[in-house]
Amino acid sequence: MNQETLKQEIRQLAAERNALILAHNYQRDEIQEIADITGDSLGLSMEAARTDKDVIVFCGVHFMAESAAILAPDKTVLLPRADAGCPMADMITAEGLRKMKQRFPDATVVSYVNSTAATKAETDICCTSANAVKVVKSLDAKEIIFAPDRNLGRYVASFVPEKTFHLWQGFCPSHENLLVEDVKKAKAEHPDAPFIAHPECSPEVLELADHICSTSGMYEYVNTFPSKKFIIGTEMGILYRMRKENPDKEFILASEALICPNMKLISLEDLHASLKTLTPVITVPEEIRTRAKTSLDRMLDVPRD
Ligand code: 13P
Ligand code: SF4
Repeated sequence: MNQETLKQEIRQLAAERNALILAHNYQRDEIQEIADITGDSLGLSMEAARTDKDVIVFCGVHFMAESAAILAPDKTVLLPRADAGCPMADMITAEGLRKMKQRFPDATVVSYVNSTAATKAETDICCTSANAVKVVKSLDAKEIIFAPDRNLGRYVASFVPEKTFHLWQGFCPSHENLLVEDVKKAKAEHPDAPFIAHPECSPEVLELADHICSTSGMYEYVNTFPSKKFIIGTEMGILYRMRKENPDKEFILASEALICPNMKLISLEDLHASLKTLTPVITVPEEIRTRAKTSLDRMLDVPRD
């Protein structure tokens, strides 16, 4: 089937199934193009909770589809490639986190949404890269267990020196692929371009950043900051919408190694097959779902700006 026919059939199947197609900002260009909504992991899960469609096709990775299933238990949540996981989310287990809680019984557990449902179920409150500082500041606790991303945890800790942080030593391999040398080289070649970095990057790379923010924050920044050129320090999929929304601006990826192989798994063929067969369905056992939902709901209750 050629690509145009495939796209037409996907749209037709989505209508027949009463399905909403969600795509994360790191997905392949053609998946972002065909999706109903593109966005960051939490924003998309909230769209899933809000929709009146029967089926949600989550083009992203496993923990994101789980978050949608946690927030929208009455919907059918599909992840077109069941093998699209997240190495960082898999660097922690519920059992490991329980052991850490025993070591620091007075600590409040804050987990990045890039974690499994089982980890969220052991968590007091979730956060995203967009609201992590605010979430931690909202807590009375003097001691924080931050999981699973050590880089986001260390970044957040720098804003709240009055609290003690115990960091789980997880990380995103794709963001840690970005090296100081890559950033220095890009900056030397484009001295007029601000370097914007995701907090999942290493502390050494973050030290070189002109601005640090989540993927949703990056779109906002490049849309409004008065520069015609930007050096981007996050997964390459973000360039698709940046370039589309800002045709007069130039975006330089700080390193070609900024790619998440899991985020690139879903093809148009996979999306088509998923809509046709209504598989693979992602579900979360009810006992885990309700506890995980509590930690997500607590985060959603933290007032925004
Ligand atoms: P978000 O902006 O969606 O949190 O992106 C970070 C990320 O690595 C998702 O996998
Ligand atoms: Fe996980 Fe990193 Fe890929 Fe995001 S970019 S899904 S954190 S491995």
